[in-house]
Amino acid sequence: MDVGAGGETAAERWAGRQEGRGIPPEILARAPASPWLHDPSYFVAPEVPLDTPSRSVALDLLDAGGTVLDVGAGGGAASLALAGAVTHLTAVDQQVDMLEVLAAGAAARGIPVRTVRGRWPDAAADAGRADVVLSHHVLHNVVDLPPFLRALTAAAGRGVVVEMLAEHPMAWLDPLWVRFHDLHRPPPATTDDAVAVLRELGVDPRVLRWERASPPKQDPAWVTARLCLPAGREPEVVDALAALPHRRPRLAATLVWRP
Ligand SMILES: C[S@@+](CC[C@H](N)C(=O)[O-])C[C@H]1O[C@@H](n2cnc3c(N)ncnc32)[C@H](O)[C@@H]1O
Repeated sequence: MDVGAGGETAAERWAGRQEGRGIPPEILARAPASPWLHDPSYFVAPEVPLDTPSRSVALDLLDAGGTVLDVGAGGGAASLALAGAVTHLTAVDQQVDMLEVLAAGAAARGIPVRTVRGRWPDAAADAGRADVVLSHHVLHNVVDLPPFLRALTAAAGRGVVVEMLAEHPMAWLDPLWVRFHDLHRPPPATTDDAVAVLRELGVDPRVLRWERASPPKQDPAWVTARLCLPAGREPEVVDALAALPHRRPRLAATLVWRP
């Protein structure tokens, strides 16, 4: 196990950075709606799949065809992009409304599907194994990364494909947390931090770094809710967004490994 200069393992460093993304209880208590829930309408899989490195490596692993397990599947953007090569899909997500969107997308594409509502890795036994395991844009939701990653590896017959943004997808909003709540956050977890945790587990992933064609959708109403602010403050959020120096996140990475 690699231990950093401060005596901290990579897994501890990841957990510390993720905990630093938390929302203090006094701010959360005033939030008009949960800032955590993902809106399924943002995650509907596009009819024409995006041609990404993650899709290419997954298609290579599936080769003539195979089963897929999609962890934190959302609306199925990762797995439904493999239609034609997937003989059976198992989709795991903690949100039932996401799984409903995914099931409709799978039916429209003629992909046999089983949905499992639950949290990974607790849901791993119920989900079972598959040739290829996908988990796209979920790592940045996880604090305790080793059990999550180990369960992905254990579930895969041929390979695991993880996609993530280069740093925590909400990090670009850090200046707005300062402005609206005087909340100063520590640096966010990055792809390199996740790779370091994998190496600590004895896994040396292939890492492909690339740029998304468009940043994740992040309109002012959504940002207002994420900041735990009432809808009436949306005009102030519009002004604050306009003043942000940084572009919204586009840099992504695909991590691939064999079990
Ligand atoms: C940002 S969305 C990504 C959805 C999809 N993979 C995509 O790339 O469009 C993250 C999804 O992971 C789910 N999720 C987060 N942590 C999870 C966990 N530990 N177990 C199961 N689902 C989880 C959320 O409910 C959400 O649907």
